Amino acid sequence: MQDVDSYLDRESGRFVAELCDLLKIPSVSGDSAFRSQTRNAAEFVRNNLQHAGVDAELVETPGHPIVLGRWQKLADAPTVLIYGHYDVQPPDPLDKWITPPFEPTERDGYIYARGATDDKGQMFTHIKSVEAWLKTKGELPLNVIYVIEGEEEVGSGNLDNFLETYRNELKCDVAVISDTSQYSPELPAITYGLRGILAAEIRLHGPSQDLHSGIFGGSIANPATALARLIAALHDDKGRVQIPGFYDDVLPLSDAERKQFADLPFDESAFLKSLGTSATFGESDFTTLERRWARPTCEINGMASGYTGEGPKTIVPSTAMVKITCRLVPDQNHEALTAALKTFLEKRLPPGITMEFESQHGAPAFVFDPNSPYLEAAKRAITAAFGTPPVLIREGGSIPVVSTFRQILGVDTLLLGWGQNTDNLHSPNERFRLVDFQRGIRASAYLWHELAALK
Ligand code: BES
Ligand code: ZN
Repeated sequence: MQDVDSYLDRESGRFVAELCDLLKIPSVSGDSAFRSQTRNAAEFVRNNLQHAGVDAELVETPGHPIVLGRWQKLADAPTVLIYGHYDVQPPDPLDKWITPPFEPTERDGYIYARGATDDKGQMFTHIKSVEAWLKTKGELPLNVIYVIEGEEEVGSGNLDNFLETYRNELKCDVAVISDTSQYSPELPAITYGLRGILAAEIRLHGPSQDLHSGIFGGSIANPATALARLIAALHDDKGRVQIPGFYDDVLPLSDAERKQFADLPFDESAFLKSLGTSATFGESDFTTLERRWARPTCEINGMASGYTGEGPKTIVPSTAMVKITCRLVPDQNHEALTAALKTFLEKRLPPGITMEFESQHGAPAFVFDPNSPYLEAAKRAITAAFGTPPVLIREGGSIPVVSTFRQILGVDTLLLGWGQNTDNLHSPNERFRLVDFQRGIRASAYLWHELAALK
């Protein structure tokens, strides 16, 4: 591995420069104004794979293309499927960024840009590690397939169809994703569980247009008030979700897992400080880590109604809208709970208000066997690259594809996060620590060796 190691040292500056070129491309999948730039990011990834020595092409979908790469030249070696995403969340609110989201900037050992950690920077580590093997040794110790998609941040709506269509070409032994976090800056982690999700947008309609609140107010239902009442009904005072049946299928945490969480170093006041808030809040009888990793939630992501500009305006608004996502845990069913949410809201509509309910996407939660040999191989690779053995954690975010990999391809996924929870993903000033980028590349390069040695 010495040749690979010195290649990684020698080329580290260029790796950062190439990552910056990718970060300059505003591939915001959820906003149609960025459609062509999103495609440019796919082309960038394809070209970069090709330069590394991997066969790569774009597979078209009704949405954004999927980059499919392959280096499969060894008959007797295992095959690993690397998944990542080149799309990013919207950069808003723009005025909160210290430097613009698509002008990657180095500061204090971090690279700042939308997508720096989620997921361009993390995904890129697995391209550079393969490049290092191919440029120094001329071959890899195992076969690799890349599936890098452009719709993860909007629910991966076209991915299942792709996986079904290509299921034979995608046969593999294990999948690898770097799109999660380390436990803390000093403590790398392997994630063995993620929460699922359901997403819906609700629009309430009252009068056909905004009305004078003095002339008409008090005589008809106000959509903003109706929305506020609906939202308020979703939780009790302790934060417990009130949708009937919401907790019915929740698998309780085992004592062993609760202990495992409790054994992790966790400083509540440092946690609160890092979030800029003063108190935790959530279901009673659960710790903060349990609430974040293993309990379901119902969150309001955004709401709008009426006049919010400068100065007063006396109206009864015509409409009100809210975006809701629920995070789910094993064995909750996202389809059944989407229907339950809809019924819950419908039943509470005041007279004169109608509701449009748009179900946007959904995915089940995922937990895998923390004793697999693949996981042991990953532990060795991470320990060697980071100098510290990783802890096993669950996380609260969702990566819809992990459950489909199991369903369609029959494989488990190694979730090897190189990022930090404090990297501002989905927030202003997203960043990725450069040392984590370089260690991630090294851990990835070692991982190919460790996985190959399993067979
Ligand atoms: N990288 C995240 C998922 C993540 C973040 C997992 C942190 C664990 C820790 C991913 O890109 C993401 O944000 N996914 C969405 C999925 C959704 C849009 C279907 C999410 O979790 O909100
Ligand atoms: Zn991501």
